[in-house]
Amino acid sequence: MKIFLDTANVAELREAKSRGSLDGVTTNPSLIAKEKRPFRELAEEICQIVDGPVNLEVNAPTAEGMVEEAGGLITIGKNVVIKVPLTAEGLKAVKILSGQNIRVNVTLCFNATQALFAAKAGASFISPFIGRLDDRGQEGMEVIEEIATIYDNYDIDTEILVASIRSPMHVKDAALIGAHIATMPFNVYDRLLHHPLTDLGLEAFNQAWKTVSE
Ligand code: G3P
Repeated sequence: MKIFLDTANVAELREAKSRGSLDGVTTNPSLIAKEKRPFRELAEEICQIVDGPVNLEVNAPTAEGMVEEAGGLITIGKNVVIKVPLTAEGLKAVKILSGQNIRVNVTLCFNATQALFAAKAGASFISPFIGRLDDRGQEGMEVIEEIATIYDNYDIDTEILVASIRSPMHVKDAALIGAHIATMPFNVYDRLLHHPLTDLGLEAFNQAWKTVSE
């Protein structure tokens, strides 16, 4: 499973890259706003750091506006993927952009039929938001299972990008289902590495090593 960071913070991206486990990045308007930097300069820096897909979201409400915005975004870097919301206008934009061989990630997906329609429009990636479903008392991971089954039934090659991840368990469950990508905030990414027995084991080794003579 590919690991993406869900962030626009360049320090977090550099750290993950140096650990050898950064396959791509997803951003959204909220994450970009958090960085308080001019958009273009920030997006260019992200494209230089990240070797894999860099997801940048359009903000226009109409298909025409989204396509125009996408035209500007793809000039930022060769690895830019256009993020488009799962609306009727968004799907019209997906059809046009995918027809121009521009990769599109359809975001704000909350059920399996939405994911089917995004794939039919030509999405390269679908982003179901599982944490926000969990927040409302619905099992978000069930939607991932359903999308995986439907895509498998019809040999659909749209990649399932599990988003709105809140915990390491989400990442493990996504991998067990066979999702292509999980995107997560840095704090979840970091917690995936840690185990108290690793720390205790290391501490014991360090103590023992102090008693060893040269
Ligand atoms: O990738 C989607 C993500 O940014 C949404 O996450 O935690 O705001 O639901 P969250």
